[in-house]
Amino acid sequence: MAGFQSLPGFREFFPEDFSRRQHIFRVWRQSARAYGFQEYDAPVLEPLELYKAKSGDEIEAQLFSFTDKGGREVALRPEMTPTVCRLVGEKAGALKRPIKWFSVGEFYRYERAQKGRLRAFNQFNADIFGEAGPEAEIELIALLIQCLAGFGLTKDDFLIRLSDRDLWFFYLEALGLDDTQSRALLGAIDRYEKMGDDAFKGYAEAHGVLAEETKARVLAFLKIKSLPDLEAILRPFESEKLAARLADWRKVLGGLAAMGLQDFVSVDLAVVRGLAYYTGFVFEAFDRKGDLRALAGGGRYNDLIRKLGYADLPAVGFAIGDVTTGLLLEQRGLAPTFVNAPDVYAVIGGEAERAAAFADICALRAAGWRVDYPLKDVAFGKQFKIAAEAGAKLALIYGGDELAKGVVKIRDLSDRSEREVPRDQVVVAVREALGGGVE
Ligand code: HAM
Repeated sequence: MAGFQSLPGFREFFPEDFSRRQHIFRVWRQSARAYGFQEYDAPVLEPLELYKAKSGDEIEAQLFSFTDKGGREVALRPEMTPTVCRLVGEKAGALKRPIKWFSVGEFYRYERAQKGRLRAFNQFNADIFGEAGPEAEIELIALLIQCLAGFGLTKDDFLIRLSDRDLWFFYLEALGLDDTQSRALLGAIDRYEKMGDDAFKGYAEAHGVLAEETKARVLAFLKIKSLPDLEAILRPFESEKLAARLADWRKVLGGLAAMGLQDFVSVDLAVVRGLAYYTGFVFEAFDRKGDLRALAGGGRYNDLIRKLGYADLPAVGFAIGDVTTGLLLEQRGLAPTFVNAPDVYAVIGGEAERAAAFADICALRAAGWRVDYPLKDVAFGKQFKIAAEAGAKLALIYGGDELAKGVVKIRDLSDRSEREVPRDQVVVAVREALGGGVE
C-alpha cells in the first residue's frame, strides 16, 4: 500500500465532506444565536486531572492521554463540560446571569470505531450556568430541538427522552439503597437497554445480588414513559421534596408544550446517562427509527463547578455530535449537495490580455464575487467548456479585439446572451447581471 493512512477513527474532510460539516456547524450556530447563547472556545489539550473522577469511569478509560515533554500528565479533551466549568468558574463573579454559552469543536475518545462512533468527532455544546430552576431545562431542550429541526428534521425523525437522576436517587433511597449502591445501580440501568439482565452483573459483584423484589421495582421505574405513571409509582413516598420535584416536571413539560414542542419530547426513565456528574434532569436525543446511536445527550450538573474548586454554581447543558447527525441527515436525504460554482469565469485570450483581466478579477473578488480563471494559457473554446462545467453563471471575455475597443464582453452562460461593457464598468455590469448582491 502506498503512502500513509489516517489513524483509525479519525476523519479526513475532502471539500464535499467539509461543506457538509460546515452546513451542520452553520445550523447549530444559527440556532444558538437565535436562543441568545454566546460562543466560546478552549484548549483541546488539558491536564489529565480535569477528567479523572469528574467525567466517570467510562470516559476515563477512553482518554487519549500521555506525558508531555515537560513531564505533565495531559489528555486530549473527551468532552467540553469540565473545561467550560473551569472557564465559568474563573470568571463567575464577573459574568451576568444567566450565563448562556455555546461552542463547536473537536473531541477525542479512544473508542472502538463503529457506525456512529469515532475517535475524533465534533460536538456542539450549549450550557446555562447560574439558573437552578427548570426554566433552564426548557430553554436548553428547546434549543436542542431547534438544533435538529433546523436541518429540516421533524418530530417523525427524532425524539428527546427526558429523565431525572434526582427522582431515581429519591426512589432508590426509598427502596432502601444507600448512595454508593444507588450510583452503582444507575450504572447498571444505563447499560440495561443494551445488555438486559447482564447489566446487573457488575453491581452484584460489588454490592451483592439485588433482592428480586427490589429488582422488579427498579425495572418498573425504568419502564415509565409518562408523567401520570411517574406520579403514580411515587405516590406511596409522598413528601414535600417529591411534590416540589414533580412540580418541576410539570413546569418543564408545560413550558415545552407552550412552545409547541410537546411532540418532540417523551418521558422516559430508562435514560440515566453514563457521565458521573449529572444531578437532576437528564435527556438524550435519538433518531425515531432507532438504528443510530444517540444524537445528543445532556442534563443538569449542579455540583461540578464546586467540585473543581470554584463557586457553587448550578449548571445544565447538552452536546450534539456531528457523526450521528450527519448519518441521520444522509438517511433522510437532508444532506446538502456540494455547490462550489464560480459566479464569474474570466476567459482570457492570451498573455497580453492577462494583465487587463487581472485588474478586473481582483476588483470583482474584492467586491465579494467568486471569480475563477485559467492559471495557464488555454485555448479560447476550451475555456468556455471549463466555465460551463464549473457551473459559472457569467463569462467575462478578454479577447484582443475587445481590449482594443476598451470593452469586455459579458456572456450569460445560462442563455448565451452577450453584451459589451466598457472596461471601467465591469463591476457594475456584473452586479446588474447577477441580481444585485453577493450571496
Ligand atoms: P455524551 O453523551 O458523552 O455527553 O456526548 C454527547 C454526544 O456526542 C453523543 O450523543 C454523540 O452524538 C456524540 N459523541 C460522543 N462520543 C462520540 C464518539 N466517540 N463518536 C461520535 N460521536 C460521539 C457529553 O459529552 C456531555 N459532556 C454533554 C453535556 C454538555 N452535558 C452537559 N453539558
